[in-house]
Parts: sequence; structure tokens; C-alpha cells
Amino acid sequence: MRIFSGIQPTGNLHIGNYLGAIKQWLDLQHENDCIFCIVDLHAITTSYDKELFRKEILDQAASYLAAGLDPEKVIIFVQSRVKEHTELCWILNTITPLGELYRMTQYKEKSEKYKNSESAGILNYPLLMAADILLYDTEIVPVGEDQRQHIELTREIVRRFNSKYGEVFVSPKEKLPSKGARIMSLSDPKKKMSKSDGKESYISLFDSPEEIKKKTKAAVTDTGKTIKYNPSRKPGISNLLTIYSLLANKRIEEVEKEMKGKSYKALKEETGDLIVKELHPFRKKRRELLSREVYVEEVLKRGEEKAATLAESKMGEVKKKMGLW
Ligand code: TYM
Repeated sequence: MRIFSGIQPTGNLHIGNYLGAIKQWLDLQHENDCIFCIVDLHAITTSYDKELFRKEILDQAASYLAAGLDPEKVIIFVQSRVKEHTELCWILNTITPLGELYRMTQYKEKSEKYKNSESAGILNYPLLMAADILLYDTEIVPVGEDQRQHIELTREIVRRFNSKYGEVFVSPKEKLPSKGARIMSLSDPKKKMSKSDGKESYISLFDSPEEIKKKTKAAVTDTGKTIKYNPSRKPGISNLLTIYSLLANKRIEEVEKEMKGKSYKALKEETGDLIVKELHPFRKKRRELLSREVYVEEVLKRGEEKAATLAESKMGEVKKKMGLW
């Protein structure tokens, strides 16, 4: 199967990104034809630090490798270095009704936040994502819950394009993890964990052990006493149980049993300790990779060459069908 997915390089991968997306990538890489992208062109739709950006892209590549992606098996590359992504994005703009973009949840949330001063990039963002997916004949897109709607839109685009110009694109399916598709904010467990919220609301993969423990200790829970998984009534506790169970590789019921009779404080402390322990090898590997910048760049260069070959060929097909050659 052809797999494609990507994450924005914002220098702050959090455990939601890890449990929702990267953990699935690690399982899929062995048996499939995988492409994992650093989607820098998506990241520039909101303000970013151009002095730091190159470093953040390299950091992200180091993080992919540190998490366990094998560059001998998978393609890892930077979106802006393969020009067909923006080229196909434009084409998709011409066949997508505006109404479909206005109804995207992420667009609605962001435009509310920016009070109509948002860039057009925020509206057109799902089309660049669709271009990423469609250039590579992707069958499966492993992501968290918040991206599901964009993949549904991608399928709609495939249907429309193929019926207008002839069969060119493969219709992709999203793959969500059975647990962890929506890790919630620590400070407001009714909202998803997001890097655009305050630092205390998410755990970055690079937080120090002290920071991790402090954040989990301060996680918002409820006024009850029993540790029970119930996302609607106990969103904070359920979120901690989900994180714990995924990192410990245990079922939620098992964790509930282990925690029976313990206090919320104990659950928070044990979850903090487990996160610290599980992230330790990752942090160590990442530090090591960051001191080998030439190697990381080499991985990206190799990835770019392979991705560009595939993308060029697909774009050629698209243009031919459209009479653009
Ligand atoms: P991004 O960078 O916001 O998030 C990257 C991945 O992390 C998942 N994720 C979560 N999963 C569980 N709980 C959370 N709280 C949580 N927050 C984020 C996301 O679902 C995603 O899988 N537009 C995309 C990036 C993208 C892409 C693509 C993805 C661009 N092109 C092509 C797949 C295929 C985005 O902004 O994700």
C-alpha cells in the first residue's frame, strides 16, 4: 500500500502528534511503501520565525528519525523542495467550490481566531494537503481525528477531477488509531491538544523531565475521586488514562484496574513518570542526530529526489489530461 502523511515543522511536536500520527507511521513502515513529509508550506500560513525555520525543519527530520522511521525503508522529504505540490494545489483550486472550503472545521476555527484577517492560505490549506496526498497515488493516510474532514474533501476532489478530466487520481482513505486519535489539552480537556495553545496545555516531545512532570501534575481533571474512563463526564481523567495506556501498551481497562483506589494525584504523577521514561530514548537519539546535521540533510536530499521523480510523473499525467502540455 502507498502511505503518505505529514506534520508541520513548528519546532514543537507534541504527544498528540506522536500518539495520533507518528506511532501509526512506525507500524506501517515495515510492510508498506511510505512517504513522510515535513509540510513547511502549510506552516507558513500562520506567522513563523524565518530565522529559525530551517533549523525547525532539520529538527523535525531528526525527530522523525529519532522516533524510529527508517530512512532505508521510507521516503522523508521537505514539501517546499518538490515544486509539484504547489503546482497541483493551484489546479485543485480551479475545480473546488469555495463553499466546500468555507465549511471545513479547521478553517472555521482559525478564521474565528484571526477575526477575518487570516490569509487566503488558511482557506486553501486543505487543497495543498490534497495535492500532497494525490501526487503520490496515496491509498492510506495515517492521521489524527482532526484531519479526517480534509481527507474526505480529498476524496470529493478525486471524484470531481476524475469525472471531469479522466481517471488520474487514486481515492485515499484516512487511518486513525483506535485510541489516541484525539489527545486532549491538559489545561482544557474538552479541547484537543494543540501547539497553538499555551505551553501548559501540551507536552512537547522535547520538554525536560521537570517540565513534563509539572504539566501532568497541573492537568485539569474533575471534582470526583474515582479513576474511570468516561470521556464525556471525566474528560481530563480519560485523557490521562488514554495517554498512559498507549505509552504503557496496555488496555484502558487494565490501567483502570491498576489505578483502582489510587488518588487523581497518583495517576497524574505516574503518567508524568511514564511519559518521561518513554520519551527518554527518543530525546537521546534526537540530540545525537542533531549533532549530525550533514547526515540528516543527506536523508532529506535522498527523499526529495525520490519524491520528485514520482511527483513529476504524476503532474505530467495531470497536465496531459487537462490539455496543458
Ligand atoms: P498537524 O501538523 O497539525 O498535525 C500532525 C499530525 O498530528 C495529528 N494530531 C493529533 N492527533 C491526536 N491528538 C491530537 N491532539 C493531535 N493534534 C495533531 C494530526 O491529526 C496529524 O496527523 N494538515 C496537516 C498536515 C498535512 C498532512 C498532509 C497530513 C499536510 N499535508 C498530507 C496528511 C497528509 C496538519 O496540519 O497536521
